Amino acid sequence: MILFKTINELKKYITAKRLSGISVGFVPTMGALHSGHLSLLRASKTTTELTICSIFVNPAQFNDPSDYQQYPVTIEQDIRLLESENCDVLFLPSVPEIYPADFQKKQYKLGALETSLEGEFRPGHFQGVCQVVDRLLSIVEPDWLFLGRKDYQQCMVITELIRQTGIHTRLQIVPTMREASGLAMSSRNLRLTAQDREKATAIYRSLQWIKTTIRPGTTLALSEAAEKILLEAGFDKVDYISIADAQSLEPIENWDGQLPIVALAAGFLSGVRLIDNISLTGE
Ligand code: PAF
Repeated sequence: MILFKTINELKKYITAKRLSGISVGFVPTMGALHSGHLSLLRASKTTTELTICSIFVNPAQFNDPSDYQQYPVTIEQDIRLLESENCDVLFLPSVPEIYPADFQKKQYKLGALETSLEGEFRPGHFQGVCQVVDRLLSIVEPDWLFLGRKDYQQCMVITELIRQTGIHTRLQIVPTMREASGLAMSSRNLRLTAQDREKATAIYRSLQWIKTTIRPGTTLALSEAAEKILLEAGFDKVDYISIADAQSLEPIENWDGQLPIVALAAGFLSGVRLIDNISLTGE
């Protein structure tokens, strides 16, 4: 694996590689890699001929400065994992490399995606995500971008970003990887004690409970009961449990039994914010 820290070196390398007509896959991450990230790398390795991973903890997407400061950094282990997956290139830029003094912040039009669910509870988060992903895509210009379904709303935001920028990159959304307990893999799980990891499984359990219980008609009581499951399991606070249109993320209060829908949840456990989602109408 080749490691680049500067945009110029990385671009020179990609330009030379592209002369042979190869396809480029890109897996952007914030590090603290786990099996979920590795499944993105594997998807890239099977779809494209050159896999580039980036590790950059993007300050612009943290609405809470203490969350940014506490974000786990495990760079040496990350490099070992990337090498074991035969990742071709690691891009490891500094903050000034991505955001130089003359960086022009853009404003992205994300409509309701920006103010609902994650957008409501993490103001500015998706503008920050777009800021960095736009920048990274313009540097790497990949044929394929790989993102995890665990960040369902982020996948929708990036789909919209790709549409708006007109960049020729296709997005592949990779299924959520889970622990045997059902807990969705996340870098934030590193901040949970063994006991909290056990309690954290309630988030998947509550979503599964919605899936097995939902019937056409009103959905409000389901979200409320699922929230109770989380609080009784020891979650300190639930930001939302939403049953939403799988395409637009608009909340569905009265389901017709046909529309594809998802259940999404976010809550705090011992100060760590966890999110998860499942489809209620597909696998
Ligand atoms: O999902 C993440 O890890 C981040 O939001 C991303 C896409 C790498 C942008 O910083």
